[in-house]
Amino acid sequence: MRELLNKRFFGYLSWISRRRAEHRREVLDALLRDLARLRPDHTVVTGDLTHLGLPSEFEQARRWLQTVGEPQDVTVVPGNHEAYVHASPEETLRLWQPYLSSDEASRAATLPAGGQAPFPSLRVRGPLALIGLSSARPSGFFLATGRVGQAQRDALSRVLEATGRRKLVRVLLIHHPPLEGTVGWRKRLVDSRSLRAILSRHGVELVLHGHGHRAAQGALRTATGTAPVLGVPSASTVSAMAGRRAQYYLYRFTDEGDARLLTVSVRGYAHARNGFAAEGERTLILPAAD
Ligand SMILES: [Fe+2]
Repeated sequence: MRELLNKRFFGYLSWISRRRAEHRREVLDALLRDLARLRPDHTVVTGDLTHLGLPSEFEQARRWLQTVGEPQDVTVVPGNHEAYVHASPEETLRLWQPYLSSDEASRAATLPAGGQAPFPSLRVRGPLALIGLSSARPSGFFLATGRVGQAQRDALSRVLEATGRRKLVRVLLIHHPPLEGTVGWRKRLVDSRSLRAILSRHGVELVLHGHGHRAAQGALRTATGTAPVLGVPSASTVSAMAGRRAQYYLYRFTDEGDARLLTVSVRGYAHARNGFAAEGERTLILPAAD
C-alpha cells in the first residue's frame, strides 16, 4: 500500500479501469509465435514494459524478455512507466541489465573514457550500430514526459561521431519521440530540441521510438542526410481503434550501390484469428555513407 500512495495510486486506477483490459497476454503470445516463425536477427523493444514500475513488474517483464530471445539478440530501452516514481535501480532496471547493456568491445572501441553509465548503450550487429538512450525519468502527476539529460547527450555526440566514422548504420532507440508534435505536451520529451541539435550535427541514419501508442513516421534533417523517425503502436493491445491496433515492424537493411535502403514490413494483430499478419510494406532511403 505504501508503494501505491503516490503517483502509482492514479496509475493503478488507470490500470484497473482501462489498461488491464486493453493490454493482453494473448496478444504478446501471438507476437512471440510470429517472431518464432520469422526469426529476425535482432529484436529491439523501446518500452514501456511495465505499468507502475513496481519491482514485481520488472521481474515479470524479465521473465518475458527471456522468452523473446537471448540478451545479445534483444535490445531494450526503458519507457516512462519504467521510471514511474523514484525506485531502487537494484530492484528495477538492474533486473534487465543483460538486455540494456552495451557490448563491452563496442563500447571500449568507441568510448574509451565513456565511464560506467548504462546509457547511451551501444551494440554493433553487422553493419548496424544500435544506440540506446534512456528518456525514462519520474515525472509529475498526470505527466508522462521524458528527458535525456546533458550527460547522455554529451556521450551520444561521441558515440555518433565514432560510429559514423566506422560507416555503421546508426539506429537510435529512444522511448519518447524526438520530433515535436508526435505526442502531446503532457507526453513530450522535454529536451527534444537539444537532442535534435546533436542528431543534426553528427548525423543518424534511423530513429525508432515508442510512447505514442500509434504509428508515426517523420523525418529528421541531419548533416549527413534525412533520417526516418518511426514510431510503433503498442504490441500488446487488443484495441480495434484505427491507428491503435497492436503492431510491430520488421526491418530489412540493404545496400544498393551507394544507397542504403530500409524495408519496413508492418505486422499487425488480427483479433479474429488471434495472430499477427502482414499489413503492408514500404521502402525508405536512409542517409548514405560518405
Ligand atoms: Fe510511454
